[in-house]
Amino acid sequence: MSLRLGDIAPNFQAKTTAGDIDFYEYLGNSWGILFSHPADYTPVCTTELGKTALLQGEFEKRNVKVLAVSVDSLDKHVGWVNDINETQNCNVGFPIIADTDRNVATLYDMIHPNASETFTVRSLFVIGPDKKVKLTITYPASTGRNFHEVLRVIESLQLTSGYSVATPADWKHGEDVIVVPAVSTEDAIKKFPKGVQVVKPYLRYTPQPNLDK
Ligand code: BEZ
Repeated sequence: MSLRLGDIAPNFQAKTTAGDIDFYEYLGNSWGILFSHPADYTPVCTTELGKTALLQGEFEKRNVKVLAVSVDSLDKHVGWVNDINETQNCNVGFPIIADTDRNVATLYDMIHPNASETFTVRSLFVIGPDKKVKLTITYPASTGRNFHEVLRVIESLQLTSGYSVATPADWKHGEDVIVVPAVSTEDAIKKFPKGVQVVKPYLRYTPQPNLDK
């Protein structure tokens, strides 16, 4: 059974390029990203792990710990990381799980037999500090993911978990957000001192509440 939003992300122990880890211990109270790639020494995966490494500072700013996984061996991961660093001009600092027994791939349903019997697809899970699944995305092997989009969603998740707001289509940091339907306009006006723009009774905007201006 695949994991759904709101489910508890299963814990596991695994061998990684940073040593043996317990997933929950690794996450601590942080947010987490667990993402799989089909195979080491492949071109799209090389760019994906490189991009993630280049964005490491952005993930850290948002208190997000990153963990990659594929069914390749530790030896392969270690050799490939050198290639990633060389070709993508980065320094992969996050651990990569060597999931040779497919334990993690099975727990997180990362092998989709109609895509490939042997390799993990491009699965990505964002996990909150409460260890619940907040986002799942699945891409095919042929399409590299957009890690700026992952950061954008994390920013939305972190904002909306603290305020009674949601973010509209294509929202970016600094843009107006939507007042959730559960809050009446009367209450919204009290709750959001920066102002509430009522376009329709069900469509109300307010400036992003966690910014100074
Ligand atoms: C890649 O990362 O380039 C890739 C991996 C598996 C299948 C196709 C492409």
